[in-house]
Order: sequence, then structure tokens, then C-alpha cells
Amino acid sequence: MAFNLLKGKKGLIFGALNDKSIAWKVAEKAYEEGAEIVLTNAPFALRLGDTDELAEKCNSIVIPADATSIEDIENLVDKTMEHFGGKFDFILHSIGMSPNVRKGITYDNLNYDYFLKTLDVSALSFHKILQVSRKKDALNNWGSVLALSYVAAQRTLYGYNDMADAKSLLESIARSFGYIYGREKKIRINTISQSPTQTTAGSGVMGLDQLMDFSNRMSPLGNADAEECANYCIAMFSDLTKKITMQNIFHDGGFSSMGMSRRAMDVYSKNLDECCEFREIDFKDITHRFEEF
Ligand SMILES: NC(=O)c1ccc[n+]([C@@H]2O[C@H](COP(=O)([O-])OP(=O)(O)OC[C@H]3O[C@@H](n4cnc5c(N)ncnc54)[C@H](O)[C@@H]3O)[C@@H](O)[C@H]2O)c1
Repeated sequence: MAFNLLKGKKGLIFGALNDKSIAWKVAEKAYEEGAEIVLTNAPFALRLGDTDELAEKCNSIVIPADATSIEDIENLVDKTMEHFGGKFDFILHSIGMSPNVRKGITYDNLNYDYFLKTLDVSALSFHKILQVSRKKDALNNWGSVLALSYVAAQRTLYGYNDMADAKSLLESIARSFGYIYGREKKIRINTISQSPTQTTAGSGVMGLDQLMDFSNRMSPLGNADAEECANYCIAMFSDLTKKITMQNIFHDGGFSSMGMSRRAMDVYSKNLDECCEFREIDFKDITHRFEEF
């Protein structure tokens, strides 16, 4: 059901590769909610992905841009303003890639050229988009800019590798630029820290299925899926959230506030006899009693 939350608004959406992409769902919802949108992705992704199909569905255009290239971003912002006939209201940064992760290189053996690429694609690109947009005065007052993050920015999760550092930087850029853009133009900048999600970028994370299962067991509301993330992005682009800025907001079913849940503990209780070092304690009995809570 649509609520016309973005009626009259115009936005630029980075990162819709295929129908699994979080940005794809955001584009569909933004269109449903009355927004006009422009889609963009890296030229290589436009060759491989299905972005044109989405553009047709959302009555949109696609402008290629490598988000690490200032020249490409300048051209993108100019063309987007030309298309809209002026300024626009929201931007979604939904971009992530680590060559170290892709090549299976572990965090204690990083290739530093790849590491710089990870930071450039996954975090500095956000700064570049903001800096170019501000210089070109591309955004309307009270606009909203979002980037997608992950809890590995705060906590260490096995296998997330140098993407964790990139997400920390991404969240920091949202705060630092949020101050500047907020005081000048009332433009808000936030990151949404999303549950693990089955997408092309997500499937690069080591053991995604196990991670998703663990995360789901730990989260009282369960993992948030891509569509639910899109709904949240729409709320953040709408006028209902005008005073939220410089925040990293968890959209993770409660995962980030949990330490241990009964559903996660259940996994261990099955093999307690084999794994438990303290055999003199009857852990099965204790686990049984936990079930009362
Ligand atoms: N999938 C998850 O588990 C998960 C969880 C939390 C946050 N996120 C974040 O959500 C965002 C979107 O990822 P997704 O899961 O939808 O996967 P996805 O693979 O569908 O999207 C990643 C996008 O980044 C684009 N991209 C890569 N290099 C680029 C470049 N140089 N210039 C422009 N675009 C480039 C890709 O083409 C792709 O469209 C990422 O920031 C990701 O880290 C994902």
C-alpha cells in the first residue's frame, strides 16, 4: 500500500544492480510513493546487471557513473539536474565492494592497493558524492541523504574483513558532512545499518548463510529483509523524519542490542555434552530452565 510519502520529491539512487539489490527495492518503493528518480551505477555493472529493466518500470533514466570518479559524479549530478529541471531532494548511496573479500584475502594479510580500493568504492565515494552535490548546489533545503552500513563498523564479525573499516569510515563521513550540510541547507545525512541480506554484495561475505542464521536467531524481530530496508529508506527520505541527522540507525530486528538469545543458545545446547568444558555442571538442566523465560 502506498502513502504518497514522496509525492513531488526527486531523488538519485546509486547501486541497483539486480532485483536482489537493496537499491532496487528502494527505487521501486520511491516510485510507488510518488517520487521521480534517476538511477545510476558503474558502467561495468550496467553491462552486467538489469538496471535498464528497473528504469523502465520506474519511468526513470539511467546515467552511468563510477562512484570513485569525481569527473563521472560531476557529469552525473549535472545530467540529473538537467533531467529534473533543477535541484533534487534525496540521494541513496548503496555501494559496496572489497577486492580483498572477493579474492579471499584475509584481514591479517591484506593487499593494501585492494584495501585502498575498498575504502574508495565503499566509503570515499560517499564523500565525493556529497562534496560534488554541495559544490553544484544540487540538493533542495531539507533534503535527505542515506548510505547503507553494517554493524561490523562497531563490532568485529568474522569474515567481514576490510569492509568493516570501510563502514566505520562511511558512518564517520555521514556525521562530519552532516554537520556542514545541515547547518547550511538543513540537509540531513544518515547511515542505515542493515541486517545481513541475500544480495550480490552480501553473498561475497564469508559464510553468509551461517551469518544470516545466527543474526536471525539473535534478533528478537528476526533479520530485516531488503524490502523492509527499502520501507525504512522511504521514511527517511520523507518529511516525517526531518530532524534526524548525523545518525547511524540500526535496522536489524534488534541484533545490535543483543548479547545472547535463547534461539542462538539452542544451537549450542544440542551438542552441550561434547562442547562443554565444565562437565560437572548439568547445563542441559540449566538450558531447560531458561526455556521458562
Ligand atoms: N547485503 C547485505 O548483507 C548488506 C548488509 C548491510 C549493508 N549492506 C550494504 O548495502 C549496500 C548495497 O549492497 P547490496 O547488498 O544491495 O548489494 P548489491 O551487490 O546489489 O549492490 C552493491 C552495488 O554497488 C555497486 N558498485 C560497486 N562498485 C561501484 C562503483 N565503483 N561505482 C558505483 N557503484 C558501484 C554495484 O554495481 C552494486 O550495484 C552496500 O553498501 C552494502 O555494503 C549490505
